[in-house]
Amino acid sequence: MNICVIGAGYVGLITALCFGKKENKVVCVEKNRDKLNMLKNGVPTIFEEGLEELLKESLNTNSVKFTDNLEMGIKSSDILFIAVGTPTKDNWDVDIGQVEAVINLISPYINKYKVVVTKSTVPVGTQKYITSKLLENHVSKEYFDVVSNPEFLREGKAIYDFFYGDKIVIGSESQKAFEVMRKLYEPFKIKMVLTNPETAELIKYTSNALLSVKISFMNEIANLCNKACADIDVIAYALGLDKRISPLFLKAGIGYGGSCFPKDTKALVKMSENYNCSLNIVKATVDVNEKQRVLPVDILLEHYKIIEGKTVAILGLTFKPDTDDIREAPSLYIIEKLLKNKVNIKAYDPMGTKKIKNIFPDITYCDGMYECLENCDAMIICTEWNEFYSIDLCKVKEIMRESVIIDGRNMLDIEKIKEANIKAYYSVGKGNIKN
Ligand code: UDX
Repeated sequence: MNICVIGAGYVGLITALCFGKKENKVVCVEKNRDKLNMLKNGVPTIFEEGLEELLKESLNTNSVKFTDNLEMGIKSSDILFIAVGTPTKDNWDVDIGQVEAVINLISPYINKYKVVVTKSTVPVGTQKYITSKLLENHVSKEYFDVVSNPEFLREGKAIYDFFYGDKIVIGSESQKAFEVMRKLYEPFKIKMVLTNPETAELIKYTSNALLSVKISFMNEIANLCNKACADIDVIAYALGLDKRISPLFLKAGIGYGGSCFPKDTKALVKMSENYNCSLNIVKATVDVNEKQRVLPVDILLEHYKIIEGKTVAILGLTFKPDTDDIREAPSLYIIEKLLKNKVNIKAYDPMGTKKIKNIFPDITYCDGMYECLENCDAMIICTEWNEFYSIDLCKVKEIMRESVIIDGRNMLDIEKIKEANIKAYYSVGKGNIKN
């Protein structure tokens, strides 16, 4: 089929390449010249498993063409995917300005029947709004149908998720559009949920909110575990054996980050308020996460009472391992709070340093974890990078000024901590040790 994907950001790029792999002809329209040149030359614009190979293959087979020529992209395609950013405003409303701009830009070129699909995460009612905008722009009713088709891609596993996801959600009012979408997704052999646009839009928010609820819930229980001498990992394991709960997304830590959970939970709360229907559980989930992500600083304050002038090592800056993405990473909030308390910060991350340097140019960035720990009064593990699992605790004890460890991701083995005679160890729900 002939497809046009508008926006070569994270979602747009993956969508374009994955459809290209399934024998479609894809045009991916991107207005940012630098990004466009990189993609045309087979250089990935984001870090994602398997992306470089897929990009190169798509260019070689000519299945995906990158361009800034919107007119050509629209006129040559039967299905138009809108994959532009929908950030959350400070008041938690979703900013659909970029979607609106795209609708205005594409309207003049819709010269025959096309299915206009929203991949971007948009609030309930956006598909109706897009329909009214297209009609307002004098696009004939016979020339388009509007579809909501949200994505559920995890960063780092996005290509895998696109091909082997659990579900495909399609929301529309049109049987004709359903048939087009069914044909497009048929080769993926993934279960499809066909529904109305409002339900599809809400499925995306509900999915991210429920996963966030699970995390915040476990984090609150973890905080109780520390006081009650219980072990959160054992609780999570036991809960996960119950098929009704599932073992996934029960890992306690210093909260969720990334480009979706923080933004979508807030947007859902705001959206519900606009409908005069308060979502208290989601609201509490956001509150719990905002407290949880700075928990290491609270622990540090409790441990030292005065932390001004201390030197703290931050291990891990990205919001999760195997990505260079620092959006809404707990490390950002921890560093901000430490700086307010006049703490000296040394930081190490295998991939996220370049991006975080733009936000905090004045802290000390290190090339390795041991260099980072030298002469520090505490270390905070913010991200569970694989290399931290094998950290040599005897060496840690030797090179740190004070071996105080705050393990925000419950990575370290308490028995080994005891053996190495570490001065203090704080976990999230697996107990603390103080010597
Ligand atoms: C998420 C959703 O999984 C995906 O379906 C959606 O489309 C976009 O948002 P992503 O942001 O890439 O994907 O990350 P994910 O792996 O889901 O983790 C999100 C955050 O939750 C991370 O900060 C992670 O550390 C945290 N998390 C996850 C926990 O704290 N505990 C868990 O058990 C699982």
